[in-house]
Amino acid sequence: MRYEVDFLVIGSGIAGLSYALKVAPYGKVCVLCKGNAEEGSTRYAQGGIAAVMYDSDSFDKHIHDTLVAGDGICDREVVEMTIREAPDRIKELVQYGVEFDRHGSGGRFDLHREGGHSEFRILHHKDNTGAEIERGLLEAARQHPNIEIKERQFAIDIITQHHLGQRVTKHTPDIECYGVYALDCDTNRIDTYLAKITLLATGGMGNVYSTTTTPVISTGDGVAMVHRARGVLRDLEFMQFHPTSLYNPAEKPAFLITEAMRGAGAILKDRDGKEFMQKYDTRLSLAPRDIVARAIDNEMKISGKDYLYLDARSIGKKQLIEGFPTIYAKCLSIGIDITRDMIPIRPAAHYQCGGILVNRDGEASIHNLYAAGECACTGLHGGNRLASNSLLEAVVYAHNAAMSSIQKVQNYNNQVLSRHHEVPDWNAEGMVLNEEMVLITQTKKELQEIMWNYVGIVRSDLRLQRAFDRLNLIFRETEDLYNRSVLTEPLSELRNLIACAYLIIKMARARRENVGLHYSIDLLRN
Ligand code: FAD
Ligand code: SIN
Repeated sequence: MRYEVDFLVIGSGIAGLSYALKVAPYGKVCVLCKGNAEEGSTRYAQGGIAAVMYDSDSFDKHIHDTLVAGDGICDREVVEMTIREAPDRIKELVQYGVEFDRHGSGGRFDLHREGGHSEFRILHHKDNTGAEIERGLLEAARQHPNIEIKERQFAIDIITQHHLGQRVTKHTPDIECYGVYALDCDTNRIDTYLAKITLLATGGMGNVYSTTTTPVISTGDGVAMVHRARGVLRDLEFMQFHPTSLYNPAEKPAFLITEAMRGAGAILKDRDGKEFMQKYDTRLSLAPRDIVARAIDNEMKISGKDYLYLDARSIGKKQLIEGFPTIYAKCLSIGIDITRDMIPIRPAAHYQCGGILVNRDGEASIHNLYAAGECACTGLHGGNRLASNSLLEAVVYAHNAAMSSIQKVQNYNNQVLSRHHEVPDWNAEGMVLNEEMVLITQTKKELQEIMWNYVGIVRSDLRLQRAFDRLNLIFRETEDLYNRSVLTEPLSELRNLIACAYLIIKMARARRENVGLHYSIDLLRN
């Protein structure tokens, strides 16, 4: 089937939906999502969204905290713009129907604090902020007559001149995006979606690693698509590991224990119940994430243990049960009463700071292609994202991208539009259905273990080289499978994970200093 719309949005998380709502008055919008519309990292966000809402805080402080967490390599102008825009974007979320906790009905927002923040500035909805944001945005989007949300449609590749038979390399100037090919996961048909503007809002790539807090759909599809289309990517060596995921080995994704709990007074302890963060940073349990995750990793390696503890008991029973109901219930379901017991924790891959390079309008290096949310690299996070700045970045850049897209659609280049007719449909001739799922599932596990063991929190030249060599074999085997098989969602995801792993390793090897989340025992401190 062929579809033609004004705005094509890939992803129904905070970035995709807030963009869709803004452009909808100006044309027909189609939102594709590979699973159910609710599924994505957004709905799992716990801590909240950072913004300066009152005079007790200041933009300068939030800017300073972001720059410090980013370890000196954030884009300062982007940081200033994002943080100054935050209050307006928060007000819009509230207008869409999103509810943040307040002191009394209609009172001031109840603000939390997380690692690296010098002030209480995290707006939240109990400990399930993301679910509330997703609910509010999805309800608003579903009511809009110009927005169609199509579930279980897996975007495979961005359509460019390459599909018109032209040779496209990373040096080709003026690569253009005409839309995407997408697999209908129910019928296995590959459809052609043509659009004046395409926004990638495909989220993160946590599943490159064996332990991750991100949902199974986070397989770096947007980044891999842009890589194959020869677009520009940046900073992928900066994978953020959250210090405190619940240690419950069989569970995937790993359940998160929000940093807001440390903000409320919970303390990291070793297996003997002793505090250890004083050995690593004066900010103790509330140091930025890269430092805390490395400290935990080190303590685990020294002691040979699989997990350490977070002790939240000092917060008090009432505040724990009322303020952190999701975590309380989850832990209780596996026999841990957080009001009495310490919580077993370990780090998990959590957030990709790098991604598709975009300018301040959210434009990628490929014409008519935008990116927002976790798949984009704006320069806000530098070497390490400050907690709760991700949801913020997503709404700010969805807004900027929407404003720029609206202008572009109103003065659209008709020459580009005429090329839509030349786009061929997907050709699956000669392909056979791969009956051996084990080839895919086993390769995925191998890949995730290689990345966890060799390209994790602490790296070395030898580990990176070893990962690269192992990945090469996996890459060749999988491309061979791809070239003779009918395309399926698991195969497509595996190819994307391999592409992302390759890019992480390549960029990690190229980074010759320890900065932010990139830490190698062979390199000196910057
Ligand atoms: P997502 O919400 O991940 O949505 C991705 C969308 O893309 C989905 O709809 C998916 O179906 C679609 N998609 C992906 N690939 C394809 C494809 N090939 N074809 C079609 N559709 C596709 N950040 C904060 O700021 N504060 C927090 O408190 C916080 N807590 C977090 C807690 C957890 C457990 C996790 C995992 C992350 C947390 N983060 C937090 C990070 C933040 O939640 C994410 O970075 C953010 O929600 C990403 O939003 P997004 O719109 O970019 O992508
Ligand atoms: C958390 O709640 O600890 C996660 C916050 C974030 O990832 O920004």
